[in-house]
Amino acid sequence: MNVPDIIIAIDGYSSTGKSSFAKLVAKKFDFLYLDSGALYRGVTLFAREEGLISEGNVIDPLLEERLAGLDLHFNAEGKLCTGERCIEKEIRSMEVSSQVSPIAAVPYVRAFVDEKLREYGRKGRIVMDGRDIGTAVFPNAELKIFMTASEEVRAQRRFDELVSKGENPTLEDVVKNLRDRDYIDSHRETNPLRRADDAYGLDNTEMGFTEELAWIQGLIQGKFGIL
Ligand code: DC
Repeated sequence: MNVPDIIIAIDGYSSTGKSSFAKLVAKKFDFLYLDSGALYRGVTLFAREEGLISEGNVIDPLLEERLAGLDLHFNAEGKLCTGERCIEKEIRSMEVSSQVSPIAAVPYVRAFVDEKLREYGRKGRIVMDGRDIGTAVFPNAELKIFMTASEEVRAQRRFDELVSKGENPTLEDVVKNLRDRDYIDSHRETNPLRRADDAYGLDNTEMGFTEELAWIQGLIQGKFGIL
């Protein structure tokens, strides 16, 4: 299928399978995949390591000027790095997950991340997932998708992901973390998580990758008149 050079924006609540779906789409259509949440996680890891966020999530205002010297980028394999150091594993920990939403609510952090995302998006032919891609980062994206799934399925997926990475969470902690993040993400003042008016909804509670792919292929064929 010959998909035009568009931007595909995928937003939704935590652990709705956005990144797995986005990676699948990128591979199928030969698009570049970008995980916007990774950058918020990278900033959070930086703030933790520099002692600029406390366990009570109080953020040191010094973070704003320190961000100017922070190099965060995706390497050729799409992994997040700072300088020479690849930080993919560290940014997925429960510690970072529990502090990322307050960090992502800070306007200067959002401006820092948005600038990087728009730079990456300049060439088009990208699929990006996050919370405000279709509403704020790329409001003119040609295709917007808003993903949902039941809380039970989301928590189990996240739990399995953490266990497969060698962490030892309780399902209860995972559920709490999902709820907390969804609440903060959708109630913050700057660019809160919400469904764009022109986004297509995808509830994948009972869907596998094959069904998801068939769904988006049908959508693209219909929307862009591709055979
Ligand atoms: O997708 P994720 O769970 O890796 O995202 C981590 C956090 O970053 C999430 O709690 C909210 C925030 N985020 C955001 O505010 N805007 C985005 N575009 C992407 C993520």
